[in-house]
Amino acid sequence: MTLFRLDASIRTHGSASREIADIVEEEWLATHPGDTVERRHIGVDVLPAWAWAAAVTGATTVEEERTPQQREAIALAATLVDELLAADAILFAVPLYNFGVSQHFKTYVDLVTTDPRAAGGTPFLAGKPAVLATVRGGAYGEGTPRHGWDHSTPYLRRILADCWGAELTVVEREFTLAGVNPALDPFIEQAKQLHALALQAARVAGRALGALPDADRLATVGAGSGD
Ligand SMILES: Cc1cc2nc3c(=O)[nH]c(=O)nc-3n(C[C@H](O)[C@H](O)[C@H](O)COP(=O)(O)O)c2cc1C
Repeated sequence: MTLFRLDASIRTHGSASREIADIVEEEWLATHPGDTVERRHIGVDVLPAWAWAAAVTGATTVEEERTPQQREAIALAATLVDELLAADAILFAVPLYNFGVSQHFKTYVDLVTTDPRAAGGTPFLAGKPAVLATVRGGAYGEGTPRHGWDHSTPYLRRILADCWGAELTVVEREFTLAGVNPALDPFIEQAKQLHALALQAARVAGRALGALPDADRLATVGAGSGD
């Protein structure tokens, strides 16, 4: 069995999304001892920004007239889709940046979608169990001043579950910048609770990910502020 893990944090140390993903991975491995975890770190080993346009234009260019870049981009997109299709379970760890989806993850989605197997919202991951670990420095739940400003999480759900068809469980953590950004000092205690809840949710999600593929999954387990 194979778990495919994709990290989009630009950090390798002190990353809240990686902390959640590490727990999910640990729980998955506990039910699949000795099995394989394939990784891609798009926040650090970034996908080339030119690849998407090259893959799109390459797709409408006859094979013998494609540029080397178009060929490389098409092959890269195929590799990304191969990784997802080869996995028995998938783990995405994607933070919120600038109120939107990580540019590295958007590049990833755009490239994947150029592959004919994933084009046009094809649910090519239909039935495949997946966990999304997503984290935010602030809080965006109903009643907060920035409710509705998280333009990442709804997009991630739309793509991974609604378009690609994955059986998605979302583990969320908010206020990761409490204790770092002084403006969030009043929320330090709440942030600690949300942190603990997120780690618990990660254990539950990791165990479920390691269970039978058709096991009942929670739509969301997590520690958001109520959105
Ligand atoms: C460049 C940058 C932009 C960010 N933008 C936001 C933002 O718009 N809203 C927010 O709540 N947090 C924002 N954050 C905070 C991150 O979401 C937070 O630090 C998160 O924990 C990062 O993920 P990581 O811990 O896995 O690295 C931003 C962080 C960085 C580095």
